[in-house]
Amino acid sequence: MKTLVNNIATLAGIDGGGVLKKAGAEMAQLDVINNTWLLVEDGVVSDFDTVDNRPAPADVDQVVDAAGGTVLPSWCDSHTHIVYAGSREREFVDKINGLSYAEIARRGGGILNSADRLHEMSEDELYQQAMQRVHEVIAKGTGAIEIKSGYGLNTQDELKMLRVIARIQESTRLRVMSTFLGAHAVGREYAGRQAEYVDLVVNEMIPAVGAEGLADFVDVFCDEGFFTPEETARILEAGAKYGMRGKIHGQELAPSGGVEVAVKHNALSVDHLESMTDEDIEMMRGTDTMPTALPGTSFFLNMPFAPARKMIAAGLPMAIASDYNPGSTPSGDMKFVVSLACIKMRLQPAEAINAATINGAAAMGISADYGSIAVGKVANFFITHPIPSIDFIPYAYTTPIIDRTFLAGEQIG
Ligand code: NIG
Ligand code: FE
Repeated sequence: MKTLVNNIATLAGIDGGGVLKKAGAEMAQLDVINNTWLLVEDGVVSDFDTVDNRPAPADVDQVVDAAGGTVLPSWCDSHTHIVYAGSREREFVDKINGLSYAEIARRGGGILNSADRLHEMSEDELYQQAMQRVHEVIAKGTGAIEIKSGYGLNTQDELKMLRVIARIQESTRLRVMSTFLGAHAVGREYAGRQAEYVDLVVNEMIPAVGAEGLADFVDVFCDEGFFTPEETARILEAGAKYGMRGKIHGQELAPSGGVEVAVKHNALSVDHLESMTDEDIEMMRGTDTMPTALPGTSFFLNMPFAPARKMIAAGLPMAIASDYNPGSTPSGDMKFVVSLACIKMRLQPAEAINAATINGAAAMGISADYGSIAVGKVANFFITHPIPSIDFIPYAYTTPIIDRTFLAGEQIG
């Protein structure tokens, strides 16, 4: 099946293949071609060029008229908790009234509140609720997504979440990567017995998840009031035995050793970083661990933003992701995340778009196949309504820009 996308004003986020991430000054480079076309064959990008070499419409099965819109690679959202039960707007009001995220968690709200609801909900209902959010993010341009467990907090409920994640992968054209986050909080039955809970994660949960092959990655909420770097190291080592690479929640609430343990264990990414220090930045240089900022969380919780300019100045790559979850940012709108990265972290639009595409794909270990428009890569992209420039995308921060979305070459909406 050959599809020709014609009449593209700007084709953005292209590369010649082989670019797996962009670091430091490279992040400001977003390659584009103007007045062009894109050829997709069997779900994969097979060519793009100037008007002069355009394939004849008679030689393809389908012609899509981009109508002067811009084409971008789909967003690659490398950190979400999109499978959850219900919502937590009461805590939202508590926060307005002055309680902090950590105080709400200490009162037994927060993650444990979501775990209680998830326990009551059937796998089917959980899947249906998650799919509503999945459809929403696809319509907003996301083409690849990482989804975490972590609202189960006992073996059966963690497996239930991971099965729902697997079902999302099977039933959509989204590329889904799955992360086991049993160490998101200490489950209620283990209150006051954190060491025993970590034993359960290591000795029971990880082997069960590994036996069913349900997770690509393992994550730990390594932060003040949650899990220590030593516990995190144990869990990362246990996950590694089942081929799960680390993706760590670190340096959110306080500088608490998350970056160090992530780097030492060659984690694929370390995420949040609102409390990242200069030493952390130094520690990350020359490593394969992708620093990932979650600007939606800083916005929603009224917290500091990750020191993005310092990271880029130090030559680091950086990804941005939505963190879509019921407590700290109930939104998977990656265009808004890109805007926040520009407005609040002072990223250039090109840097923010690279952070949300190729570097997001790298933070999921899939940038050989996703995250840019390159020959041989999966044809995940969206066509915008005609827009004046790429910079307009983060500038018009609530204007819907998407006309049509394509996943694996197929028009989804
Ligand atoms: O990434 N920081 C830890 N976990 C989530 C929040 C989870 C929740 O509050 O439900 C986060 O922000
Ligand atoms: Fe998170």
